[in-house]
Amino acid sequence: MTDPEIHKGLAGVVVDTTAISSVNPETNSLLYRGYPVQELAEHCSFEEVAYLLWNGELPGDDELVAFEALERSLRVLDDRTKRIIDDVPVAAHPMDVVRSAVSQLGGLDETLEQPDGVLDPELNNGRAIYLLAQLPAIVAYDQRRRRGLPAVEPRDDLDYARNFLWMTFGEVPDDVVVDAFRVSLVLYAEHSFNASTFTARVIASTLSDLYSAVTGAVGALKGPLHGGANEAVMHAFDEIGSADKAEAWLDDALASKRKIMGFGHRVYKNGDSRVPTMKAAFEKLAEHYDRQDMLDLYNALEKAMGDRKNIKPNLDYPSGPAYNLMGFDTETFTPLFAAARVAGWTAHIAEQYAANSLIRPLSLYNGPTERHLSR
Ligand code: SDX
Repeated sequence: MTDPEIHKGLAGVVVDTTAISSVNPETNSLLYRGYPVQELAEHCSFEEVAYLLWNGELPGDDELVAFEALERSLRVLDDRTKRIIDDVPVAAHPMDVVRSAVSQLGGLDETLEQPDGVLDPELNNGRAIYLLAQLPAIVAYDQRRRRGLPAVEPRDDLDYARNFLWMTFGEVPDDVVVDAFRVSLVLYAEHSFNASTFTARVIASTLSDLYSAVTGAVGALKGPLHGGANEAVMHAFDEIGSADKAEAWLDDALASKRKIMGFGHRVYKNGDSRVPTMKAAFEKLAEHYDRQDMLDLYNALEKAMGDRKNIKPNLDYPSGPAYNLMGFDTETFTPLFAAARVAGWTAHIAEQYAANSLIRPLSLYNGPTERHLSR
C-alpha cells in the first residue's frame, strides 16, 4: 500500500466551502459576501462590514441604525473584566490580555448554561456583536494601563472607529486619521481560512462555545507568521532607522535566514490584494504627519525585497507603520488586528456550527514500529 500524500500546513488544501469571503490569487481579489473589499473600504463603515459578514447582506437604513445603537450600548467594560486585565503583568504581551479578557467574557456569560445555550444562533449573534463592542474597550484600556493613564470610558455618540480612537487617546483625531483607521479595520475584518479563523472553526466544530473558539483564534493570531507580523514590521523599521540603511539591513537579515515580516503570503503569490488600499491610507497619514522619511523607508525596503527575493508585501506591511503614525504602541498593533478580525472569526464560527461537522484530519505515523514491554 503506498503512503498517502501529505499536505504540510494544509497548503493548497480545500477543506470546506464558505460563503463568507473569497480570496482569489489568480485575480488577486478578495470578496466579502461577493463585494470587492476595496469598494467596502472606500464606501462602508466597519459596522456595515461586520453586519455584512454576519448576515450576508449590507444593512438597510433602519437595520444599520438598530445595529449601531446595539453595538454602542455594549461598549462598557464590566469591572470584573477590568480586574482580569489589571491582573495581567504589563510585561506580558497585549495579546495575552486580549486572550484573557475574551475568556473572562465567556465565563461571565450565564446564557451558555441554558439548554442549547452554546449553539443558539440568536445568542451567538448577540455574543458576536458583544465581542465586537468589547474588544476596542479591552485594547484601549490595556494600552492606557501600560502608559500609566486612567481609562477613558466609551462614548455612544461616536461611531466604532472614532470611539476606539477616543478610548485609546482621549481625543478624536482628524478625519484623515479616522478614515485610515476605518480602512485598516475593514481590510483586516476577514480573510477566509487563515490560521486564526481555521483555529476558531476547529474549536467550533467540536461544538465548544464561541468564546472558546475566539480565545483560540487570538492565540493563533499572536504568532509572528500571522497577525504578529504587523508589530514585527515596526520593530524592523525601528532597527533599520532610515531608507538609506534598508538594503544593508535586508542583506544581513536574509544572510541570517530571517523571515522579513510583512512580506509573503501562503495564498497570494503575486501580492496581497489589500495592500494598495492600505498603502494609500498610509501615504495620506505620512503626508498628514509630515513623515516622508517613514514612507521613504517603506518604499526602500519593499524595493530591496523585490530586487532580492521577489516577495511582495502583505497587509501587515503598510498597516504597521500606519498604526505607528496613528499613535498606537507597537505591541498594540496585533490587538487592533484581533478587534477587526473578530467579525470574520464569529461569522465563521456560526457557519461551522451550521455545518455541524467535526474537523479531524488524519496523520501518517512515522514513529517506532509496534513493540512490547519486556516486564
Ligand atoms: C497574515 O493566511 C492569511 O490569509 C493570513 C492573513 C490574514 O489576513 O489572515 O493574510 C494575515 O498572516 C499575513 C502574513 C503575515 N506574516 C508575515 O508577514 C511573516 C513573514 N512571511 C513568511 O513567514 C511567509 O511568507 C508566510 C508564512 C506568510 C507564508 O509562507 P509560505 O506560503 O508557507 O511560504 P514559505 O514559507 O514556504 O516560503 C517559500 C519561500 C521560502 O524560501 P525557501 O526556504 O524555499 O528557500 O519563500 C521564502 C521562504 O523562506 N519566504 C520568505 C518570506 N516569505 C517566504 N523569505 C523571507 N521573508 C519572508 N517574509
